[in-house]
Amino acid sequence: MSIADAIAKKIAEQPIPSLMAVQLLKVIEDEDHSLKEVVRLVETDASLTTEVLKVANSAAYYRGQPVTTISRAVLLLGEMMVVGVAICASSSIVFHAPLDGYNSQKGEMWEHSLRTAIAARELARYARKSISPGLAFTAGLLHDIGKSVISGFIAGSTEEMAQSCQNGGVTDFIEAERKLLGTDHAEVGYALAQRWGLPELLCAAIRDHHQPAQSDEKYKGLVYTVHLADLISMIGGCGTGSDSLAYRLDNNYVEYIRFEKEELELLLLKIQGDFVSLKTAILAD
Ligand SMILES: [Fe+2]
Ligand SMILES: [Fe+2]
Repeated sequence: MSIADAIAKKIAEQPIPSLMAVQLLKVIEDEDHSLKEVVRLVETDASLTTEVLKVANSAAYYRGQPVTTISRAVLLLGEMMVVGVAICASSSIVFHAPLDGYNSQKGEMWEHSLRTAIAARELARYARKSISPGLAFTAGLLHDIGKSVISGFIAGSTEEMAQSCQNGGVTDFIEAERKLLGTDHAEVGYALAQRWGLPELLCAAIRDHHQPAQSDEKYKGLVYTVHLADLISMIGGCGTGSDSLAYRLDNNYVEYIRFEKEELELLLLKIQGDFVSLKTAILAD
């Protein structure tokens, strides 16, 4: 079997997120939907209800009094963030398995994804054209889903690939993946996202997060937000192993995000604080 066929087979074998997440996306995509419909759906799933309330009551979102109803939680977090929580909670193979091909321990993928999600949500506030913070959070959470598919295919070549990035043999890790496999984790993530039925905007953020300039103009605001958030997450010391910081920053982000490099230190502190409180809340029983 060719590598391309083997990767396609692996994509087809990945479990689909919970039916609930898929249904939620369908409801939200309908412009005429009501908050009531979203709330009713979340409430029919006991474990999702618990997850959403945990996040809404974490120190990162706490607004002085406990959130006890799903309607308040959805208003506080935003509908797209609730979808992100639903997908993440029901896709443990994607987020919680170790990524051998990236020399990445169990839990690192989830932590990198969560940090990128928080960074993207924060950066959305600087967007030149309005971006929903919940959408940015979910795009950040999902940006690297392709890694779970190709990790096994690059295992054994990782050191060589990382070295090639360092000595200039390739420009970044994404090129190293493409050289070895004929594809990369962004492209594979896009195929996976399409299979999951995610909206095209989220699919584009996944496909283009390392090459934002190539994205369609209508997606670029979100794509550059995730691109920068990913790098900031790695600068904060939270990557997924061998490929950490082996990517290039496209400075054209300034056309889409009004973020000054002098603000980085404060942003890193905010991300760290929210990361600790969200992680504590989500992992609590
Ligand atoms: Fe990536
Ligand atoms: Fe990443």
